[in-house]
Amino acid sequence: MDRDNRIIVALDCDDRAAAEGIVDRLGEECGFYKVGLELLTVAGPDVVRHLVAQGKEVFLDLKLFEIPHSVAGAVRAAGALGVSMVTVHGMGGAGVLSAAVDAARAFPGLRVLALTVVTSMTDEDLAGIGVRSSVGEQVVRLARLAGEAGCHGVIASPQEVAALRGVLGPDALIVTPGVTLPGDAPADHVRPGTPRAAFAAGASHIVVGRTVTRAADPAAALRRLRASPAPQASAAVG
Ligand code: C5P
Repeated sequence: MDRDNRIIVALDCDDRAAAEGIVDRLGEECGFYKVGLELLTVAGPDVVRHLVAQGKEVFLDLKLFEIPHSVAGAVRAAGALGVSMVTVHGMGGAGVLSAAVDAARAFPGLRVLALTVVTSMTDEDLAGIGVRSSVGEQVVRLARLAGEAGCHGVIASPQEVAALRGVLGPDALIVTPGVTLPGDAPADHVRPGTPRAAFAAGASHIVVGRTVTRAADPAAALRRLRASPAPQASAAVG
């Protein structure tokens, strides 16, 4: 079966058996999984090692926001697990982003992605934490900072992808959550978009969770998603 590792399935599960059940059901349909703080905390790093041992790529969504020394240590730990992507908060600033990039150099397969503004946030939310910029302005500011620090790419909502592709150039990874299929309820995403729209705007990867993992037939849901995007060859991991 043809693998398409541009679609990353988020294993947002509260127990290992549920996560591995999804991986088993998807089989060869999915070669790339996101493991976030929930699953990592409940199941430990073995869940990541097991995925890597099965030949899966893993996006370890640690959303690191710490002092540079601690961020560097966590990035090294992620690299030692064999993951392909790890996230760090752009809000941490240039020192944190650079520390993450430096730590990742020992792991040639590891890409450092900066989180700009989480897709659930609005301009009002930013104002509430003292950021006077709009979400769009803040996303671009943090993406530039990430690029200057040497990050391999960013996380951004479907609606910011086109602007970011212009800012970051053709080789940057732009990984986009908040993706739903036409007709799906938008769940808790404030800035959702479809896979086709995200890829057409220049996303290198999309992250999809509940649309696949809560479907009666996850493999069929993933096939529907894969049928949706227009093909795009640039910015592959590896
Ligand atoms: O909504 P879905 O289940 O597809 O979420 C998949 C991933 O997208 C989550 O693991 C989360 O990291 C991200 N997400 C997000 N903003 C939201 C909801 C989900 O960035 N509002």
